[in-house]
Formats: sequence, C-alpha cells, structure tokens
Amino acid sequence: MSCILAIVNQKGGVAKTTTCLSLGASLAEQGQRVLLIDLDPQMNLSVSVGVREPPDEGGIVAWLTWGLKEHSDHRSFMPLGLHPHGLALVSGDPELAALERQLPGIARYEFGLHNLLKGVASDYDYVLIDCSPSLGPLTVMALTAAHHVVIPVTADYLAAWGLMQLITTIETIKEHTNLILEYSLLCVMFDRRNGISRVMLERLQGSFGDRLWRTVIGLDTRLREAAVAGEPIVCYAPKSRAAQQYRQLAQEIMAFFENRNGRGIHAATR
Ligand SMILES: Nc1ncnc2c1ncn2[C@@H]1O[C@H](COP(=O)(O)OP(=O)(O)OP(=O)(O)O)[C@@H](O)[C@H]1O
Ligand SMILES: [Mg+2]
Repeated sequence: MSCILAIVNQKGGVAKTTTCLSLGASLAEQGQRVLLIDLDPQMNLSVSVGVREPPDEGGIVAWLTWGLKEHSDHRSFMPLGLHPHGLALVSGDPELAALERQLPGIARYEFGLHNLLKGVASDYDYVLIDCSPSLGPLTVMALTAAHHVVIPVTADYLAAWGLMQLITTIETIKEHTNLILEYSLLCVMFDRRNGISRVMLERLQGSFGDRLWRTVIGLDTRLREAAVAGEPIVCYAPKSRAAQQYRQLAQEIMAFFENRNGRGIHAATR
C-alpha cells in the first residue's frame, strides 16, 4: 500500500515543486518505489526533470477524465514516464487549467484522482503530488486522494497568514471527502543568519509542535541550478547542503510512515 503525499500551499514560490522532486528522488535513493504526479498546469515539476512538452494524447488530462468516470480498471491506462534517478512521473499539461474549470460541474469530481490511485496503490511505496498555488478543484482532488498533506512554509511573517485558510480547507476535506487526511509543515528556504526567520521558526514550533518536521531546509542556490539542469538536487549536487537536508527529510518521513503503517493507518478505507 503506498503512502500518498500531496504537497500543498496556495502561496506561490514556497518550494512545493522543489520539495516534491527533491524528496521523491531522496526516497528513491533509499530504495523506495516513487511515483510523482504533476498536477500543476505550470508543469514545473515535469520541466524540472527535463519533460518540456505534454504527450500529444493520452496524458494526464485524459487520465483524470477517465478517473472521473469511475471505471473499474484504472490500471489499464496510465500516462507514465519512467525517468532516470528511479522516478516514475505522470507529467503535467497546461490543459489541466481547462479541465479544472469544468470540474465543479462534474458529480463527485473530488474522487477522480483517488479512483485512479486505488488501481496502482501496491506498485509504489510513495506517491507525491505536486499541486499548483491555489486551493481550487485540482488541489481538492489531490487532498481527497492523499493520506497526508505536506505544507512547505517559509519562516517569514506573511507566510503564516495563508496557513489558517489552508488548514480550514484541510479540515473541510476531512469532514466531507477524506476522513483519514492528516497534515504536517515543512520549514523551507530557511535563512539561519536572519533573526526574524529564527523567531518565526520558533513560533511555528510553538504553534504546530509535532506537526512540524524536525528537518529544516535552508536556502541553497544549488536548488535553482538543479532545476535549470533538469535534475533532482541529490543527483545534480549530491553533497550540497540542500541534498543532505532533503535526504534527512526522506529518512524522517520514512521513519514516521513506517511507524504509522505498523499501526494500520493506511489500511483505512473510504
Ligand atoms: N531551499 C531553497 N533555496 C533556494 N532556492 C530555492 C529553495 N527551494 C526552492 N528554491 C527556488 O525557489 C523557486 C520557487 O520554488 P518552487 O518552484 O519549488 O516553488 P513552488 O511553491 O512550487 O512554486 P509555485 O507556487 O509557482 O508552484 C525556484 O526557483 C526554486 O529553485
Ligand atoms: Mg510549483
């Protein structure tokens, strides 16, 4: 049974895509079977592994459209690309924006991705979903499919403002479409030389306690270079600070979910 993580924050540019790829590649490095899903019309995750164009046909939009119809066998059709670094990717598509506009008119659209992932749950240890900077229907779909939401957050004053809206959305999803959904926060782009950042990190620790991953991802320009090179940081600069921190995060996440699995959390059915 895979562990499905949605990487969500409606605030833009807070390292959702960077975290999805770097964490995914770090988990794969540890021998985990990883599937990445680029649910963002911007396609940044796909571009970050060198995929610049969606397939001409049979891509993510057709896949989701299939899932919305609740076919019984979702395994027969999956727009899967296999990439170096041990990652499987369902690449994004700018046309996701048009699909998103239609979703509210479709009955039970929230379950579209959940229906599809049921068919492949045993093929992967981790499924990571990269979401767009919005709480729109595609993100609702991801939140309904996920076991857990990882919220990347920067340690600055304004970053905290959007968090309550996001947490309220998660609580609503938990009530209506996904009883087992949990969330955690990951402090990213942390500048240890900045006093305000240190104070904000302490506040996040005070407010969220165990929901904040102990691993903190610092500022590291090698991450920007890795995205340009189309490689995950653990491959592009394996000894960089960011690579080491994302590896540490992967270890922390694996330890957490192995514990949870032992207690049967992912066996919960909906
Ligand atoms: N720890 C870091 N240190 C320095 N730069 C970083 C770090 N993490 C991410 N970046 C850079 O910040 C920019 C935004 O990151 P990213 O695209 O991952 O954010 P995002 O939340 O996915 O954005 P969007 O909301 O548009 O989807 C990118 O150029 C990325 O390379
Ligand atoms: Mg992104």
